Amino acid sequence: MAGEPVNVKEFQELARLVLPKMYYDYYEGGAEDQHTLEENEKAFHRIIIRPRILIDVSRIDMSTTILGYETSVPIIVAPTGMHKLAHPQGEIATARASAASNVIMALSFMSTCTVEEVASSCNAIRFFQLYVYKRREISAMMVQRAERNRFKAIILTADAPRLGRREADIKNKMIAPRLRNFDGLISTDVQLTDKGSNIEAFASENFDASLCWKDIGWLKSITSLPILIKGVLTQEDAIRALEEGVAGIVVSNHGARQLDYSPATINVLEEVVVAVEGKIPVFVDGGVRRGTDIFKALALGARAVMIGRPVIYGLAAMGEHGVRRVINMLKDELELTMTLSGCCSFKDITRGHVRTEQDGRLHC
Ligand code: FNR
Repeated sequence: MAGEPVNVKEFQELARLVLPKMYYDYYEGGAEDQHTLEENEKAFHRIIIRPRILIDVSRIDMSTTILGYETSVPIIVAPTGMHKLAHPQGEIATARASAASNVIMALSFMSTCTVEEVASSCNAIRFFQLYVYKRREISAMMVQRAERNRFKAIILTADAPRLGRREADIKNKMIAPRLRNFDGLISTDVQLTDKGSNIEAFASENFDASLCWKDIGWLKSITSLPILIKGVLTQEDAIRALEEGVAGIVVSNHGARQLDYSPATINVLEEVVVAVEGKIPVFVDGGVRRGTDIFKALALGARAVMIGRPVIYGLAAMGEHGVRRVINMLKDELELTMTLSGCCSFKDITRGHVRTEQDGRLHC
């Protein structure tokens, strides 16, 4: 590639060039046939923007709030594991870039820097993503550490009772690095089994597949932080989440790494938005690679999007600077999309600004 990367895809190409194949495959891979992985992006491509003209767009207001926190753009850094495989500074670089860009960072439970290191590295607004382990006391302790370190919300990931089958990791015999949050508590040094990836072996040994709705009550009993639930793909689960009193929903298929042939997230966003009737904010992730994608998600009712792999691409390619570049590129693209669509602020973006396949074909 000649010159500096100018979009997320070019950052992806750079990441592919600099990362060892095993790590690139770990970050990039989806489950099984990777049908959903492909669809997450393609479904965005099938949504058409309906721009409006002759509106004064000389000033675009990009400011927004997420759970009451002011951010520069409706983008949240999604929780993704093991950033030190992408860059030696790991999650600290990601957090610093998030702080510099004034966006919220969600720290993965499976981070390679500790909760305390990330918290003391900068003043980014941080959410903490939670997996529930069979040894519940470990998850409870992590929630308490997050709370002590001024994280602002807990994101309960609910789509991973087991890990999806990621065949690239199996072939590569992917090995997880040390997860220092769990030093002295749990070992990541899990034997490679015939499954071939020790991440999968680690997950089946530790993740609590008995986690269910009633456990939201347990989580509430151990934290006063707002709880977001991540992994909702149906109106039924959205309504149930609402009944359980969560503070928000993340429409997510885990970056297509769990259940293959689950729907592309952008295709089910509206179903969830309609179900919650504006009572709580709905976020979406999966396949967001352009400012136009963010615009489409907002038009379909999302409060903000989360981005997973694009952050990793930036991190692998250029560390903290790369993450900043990726966030700011997406922000600039979104601003341009708003300008060219006749929207001066996020409240101007309406359902009428997009046409989905469900709406029927455009007359050409
Ligand atoms: C993830 N994701 C994820 N989710 C989560 O709740 N906890 C985690 O530790 C991880 N780890 C993780 C690692 C990697 C390498 C990827 C790609 C994804 C899912 C993540 O939060 C998010 O849902 C997706 O990444 C969104 O899709 P895109 O933006 O990557 O297409």
